[in-house]
Amino acid sequence: MNVIFVGSALFVRTFLVFISFGEALSPNRGEQIKNCLNENFDFKRTNWNDTIERDAPSNLKVETTWSSSHVSRYDLTIVTQLSFDRMPALYNQCSTYPGPMAAAVYLPLLQLDDQLHILNGESGDLNPENKERVRKEVERVGRIFQEIDNRNDMCQLDLMFLWEAFDSKQASLLYPVNSLRNYARMQVRTNLLSAIDVDMMISSSVGRAFEHPATLKELTSAVEDRQAVVLPAFEPQRQGPYGRMVADESCKASKENLAIKFKQKSVLQFKLKVFPRGHTPTNYTKWFQCTHPYKVRYQRMYEPWYIGNVKTAPFHDVKFRGYGLNKIAHVASLNYFNFTFLVHPDFWIIHRPHEDTAVRKVVAREASDVNKFGVKLPKNALYYKVTQLFGDAKRGMIRGNFNITLDTSMVRCYNTLTWLPPIPSSQGFPVDPLIFI
Ligand SMILES: *[C@@H]1O[C@H](CO)[C@@H](O)[C@H](O)[C@H]1NC(C)=O
Ligand SMILES: *[C@@H]1O[C@H](CO)[C@@H](O)[C@H](O)[C@H]1NC(C)=O
Ligand SMILES: *[C@@H]1O[C@H](CO)[C@@H](O)[C@H](O)[C@H]1NC(C)=O
Ligand SMILES: *[C@@H]1O[C@H](CO)[C@@H](O)[C@H](O)[C@H]1NC(C)=O
Repeated sequence: MNVIFVGSALFVRTFLVFISFGEALSPNRGEQIKNCLNENFDFKRTNWNDTIERDAPSNLKVETTWSSSHVSRYDLTIVTQLSFDRMPALYNQCSTYPGPMAAAVYLPLLQLDDQLHILNGESGDLNPENKERVRKEVERVGRIFQEIDNRNDMCQLDLMFLWEAFDSKQASLLYPVNSLRNYARMQVRTNLLSAIDVDMMISSSVGRAFEHPATLKELTSAVEDRQAVVLPAFEPQRQGPYGRMVADESCKASKENLAIKFKQKSVLQFKLKVFPRGHTPTNYTKWFQCTHPYKVRYQRMYEPWYIGNVKTAPFHDVKFRGYGLNKIAHVASLNYFNFTFLVHPDFWIIHRPHEDTAVRKVVAREASDVNKFGVKLPKNALYYKVTQLFGDAKRGMIRGNFNITLDTSMVRCYNTLTWLPPIPSSQGFPVDPLIFI
C-alpha cells in the first residue's frame, strides 16, 4: 500500500514538474495576446455616427489578462463576454461549469471633449479620472478572478480586461459584443468551444457528461462533421429573485425534473413570449422525449447556442455593436457555411433573470416603433443599422459572397501568434432566398 502511495505521489510530482516546465518554456499566452492586440493601438474615442454610418472600427485596449493556473479539465471551453458590472454573473456562470471558460470583460469610459489634453487632435490618452477608474476596476476584477482561480470546483478561467473610450453617453451604448466574443475566443486552449452569453447557467449534465470519455469522442466527431450541437435554452417564467432561484435550481436538476418544471410552466422555452422564432426550431416537445441527438432544420431567426469546433466555427461579425440581430446573423452564417444543427439530448442552459441593459431598451423601443407603428427611423438609429447589417448579410448569403468582418488587429495576431488555431476559412454556399421569408 505504502509503496503504491509513494510511487503515485512521485508520479504526480514528476507530472507537475513536467507541466510547470512546459509552461515556463512557453510565455504566458494571455500576455502574448494582449501585447499583440495592443501593438497598433492608438488612443481614439469612439463616436456614434462614425460607428453607425461609417463602420469605424472599435478602439479596444487590452489592459490586463489573467490566465487560469489550472489545467483545463475538459476539452470544451465556454466563451463569454460581459461588461464590468456583470462580474457576479460571470462568477455564477463559472460556478455551473467545472471546465475551462474564456471571457472578455469590458469597461466603457466616457470622455467628453472638454478635457484639455485632447484638444489638439485625437492623439490623447485617458484622462486621470478614467485612468483611476481602469486601475480600480482591474483591481476589483482581479480579486474576483483570484477567488475563482483558488477553487477547484469552479471553471478554469482565462480572462481578458478591455476598455474603450467614448465621446458621448450615447456612443457608450455601442457595446462591442462581437469583437469581445472573438477576443475571448482567442484564449481558448481546447478543441471544442461554445460561445454562451454570461447570463445563461449551464446544466450540470454538461460537466458530468465530460467525465465519460465516450461523450467527448461523440461530440468531437459530431462537430468535426460541421454540425452545430445545439444546447436547448430555457428561462424561468418569473423574473426577479424568484426567477433566479428557479434558474439556479434548474441548471442542477435532472432532465426529468426539468420536464416537470416545464410542464408546470415554471420554466419556458427561452423568449417564447417575445420571440418564439429564436428557439422554436429546436422543438422542445421532441427534446423532452428524446434520448438521442436529433437534427433540426435551420429556419429564419433561429438563434440557438451551440457547441462547435475551433477549426470550423465561424467568428462573429464585428460590425454588429450594441444590441440586436448579432446572434441571429451568426447562426444564419452557420447555415450558409453548410453546418447542420444537431440537438444534444442531455445538455441545456437556462437564463438567470436580470435588469434589462440600457442599449437593449433603446433597440427594443426602436423596433416596436418600426414594427408596430410604422415609424421611419433616422439612418443613424441603432435598430436601423442592425437591420441593415442583417439585410446585407442575407443578400450576401443568397448571392454566395457573404463575408464576416473581423478586427484587423485580431487577424494580424492570428497571423503572428502561431500557436493560435487558424481562423476558419469556410466555403459558403448560396442559400435559397425563401429561407429568409
Ligand atoms: C449624426 O448623424 C445624424 C444623422 O445622419 C445627424 O443629423 C447628426 O447631426 C450627426 N451628429 C453629429 C454630431 O455629427
Ligand atoms: C416536434 O417533434 C414532435 C415529436 O417528435 C413532432 O411530432 C412534431 O411534428 C415536431 N414539430 C415540428 C414543428 O417539427
Ligand atoms: C452540405 O452538407 C451536407 C451534409 O450535411 C452534404 O451532404 C452536402 O454535400 C454539403 N453541401 C455542400 C455544397 O458541400
Ligand atoms: C465579400 O468579399 C468579396 C471579396 O473581397 C467581395 O467581392 C464581396 O462583395 C463581399 N461580400 C459582401 C456581402 O460584402
